[in-house]
Amino acid sequence: MKICVVGKGGREHALIRSLRESESSPEVFCFPGSEAIHELEGAGKVEAHDLDSLIAWMSENSIDLCVAGEESYLVTGEGLANRCQTAGIPCWGPPFTGAQMEASKEFAKEFMLRHKIPTGGATGCADFEEAQAAIAGNYPTVLKFDGLAAGKGVAVCPDKASADEFLDEVLVQRRFGDGRLLVEEFLEGPEISIFAAVSGPDYLILTPARDYKRIGEGDEGPNTGGMGAVASRQLADPELMKRIDEEIVKPTVAGLEKDELNYVGFLYFGLMLTKDGPKIIEYNCRFGDPECQAVMPLLSGDLATFCLEGAKGNLKPELLSFNEGWSVCCILASAGYPESSRAGDVISGLDAVDDARIYHAGTKKVGDDWATNGGRVLAVVAGGDTREEAVEKAHAEAAKVDFPGSQRRADIGRMHF
Ligand code: AMP
Ligand code: GLY
Repeated sequence: MKICVVGKGGREHALIRSLRESESSPEVFCFPGSEAIHELEGAGKVEAHDLDSLIAWMSENSIDLCVAGEESYLVTGEGLANRCQTAGIPCWGPPFTGAQMEASKEFAKEFMLRHKIPTGGATGCADFEEAQAAIAGNYPTVLKFDGLAAGKGVAVCPDKASADEFLDEVLVQRRFGDGRLLVEEFLEGPEISIFAAVSGPDYLILTPARDYKRIGEGDEGPNTGGMGAVASRQLADPELMKRIDEEIVKPTVAGLEKDELNYVGFLYFGLMLTKDGPKIIEYNCRFGDPECQAVMPLLSGDLATFCLEGAKGNLKPELLSFNEGWSVCCILASAGYPESSRAGDVISGLDAVDDARIYHAGTKKVGDDWATNGGRVLAVVAGGDTREEAVEKAHAEAAKVDFPGSQRRADIGRMHF
């Protein structure tokens, strides 16, 4: 089997490792990939520079399966999955319209309301005045730009001053370009990330995870792409998982079917566990990053065949099994992140890591060394039968790796909720 994975980050590195470890031993290619993905995982390079040339390359090279890692190509042009379908290449990733579950907050919110999936109330607004009227003096309020905004399109505003500032940036100065904005009810409670593998009407819920979005310990400071994650079946007890399945996942998949969205691929549910039960705050049409890096080591079986069969409409849960233990992913980020990032700092200690997996997110080769080349640089992921064991091991292994200015949260996996 020949698989082409689309993406370049730590999530794709983790997916590729698990695809390669599949019992079916596929040959894996990656576009656009990274030096680490090509060199450390042996993933073949793809001679392409855009969606057209990617599709042509996959056809010419008899690719059996395309796996969408990141969301961007799913909503580029006609969409990666749509183009794959036209070319006769099975694709593990949703078509353009299904990917709107992530790309448009208003599309997703209307979907949730139409299918009665528990979520915060929200009003779509076109301009500053409409948004202020929708807030109606209720603070805190949650403001969400209705489009892809590289993780910067959401603001939780405690008061009028902060709300006005965000509204001005988004709706007057148009920082993210044209688009509407949702004013959403503020929800309180711990967050959890739930992942389902979806193939039309069928789905399989994978191991739940929690990510740590803020740069600082104790969830302080600005938001990042994710400073770490913890994954385990035990993050949610069976009763809670049943509720999440019955109230959120099942009606979502039924809604996707009813709306004829032909959803295939990973679907990510960002949930808030409120005192009134689980409520959805966002869908993403892909795996989470860095949750994927924590979840993948818990999975065994044949992920490659699972994705291929799923892409063809035959979901086969029996091809996968899940470790019941814990997995903790520590991110090492570069100096200055998230405001900026510094490249070229040489990374030491990678060879000393012997009881954890390393996934590269933003690195490059400098001579024989790996050096930083992005905000989030590496993930160090370790497992254990208990949360404590996984936490201690992940931090001990991550501490062996260093580079000038490296940032790592020491509390990843430790905070209980
Ligand atoms: P998103 O970009 O949709 O993932 O949102 C970023 C973060 O904003 C989430 O992880 C939550 O912490 C927070 N958030 C989003 N929606 C709400 C909400 N309705 N109430 C409270 N916090 C929210
Ligand atoms: N971990 C959050 C995300 O992937 O969007």
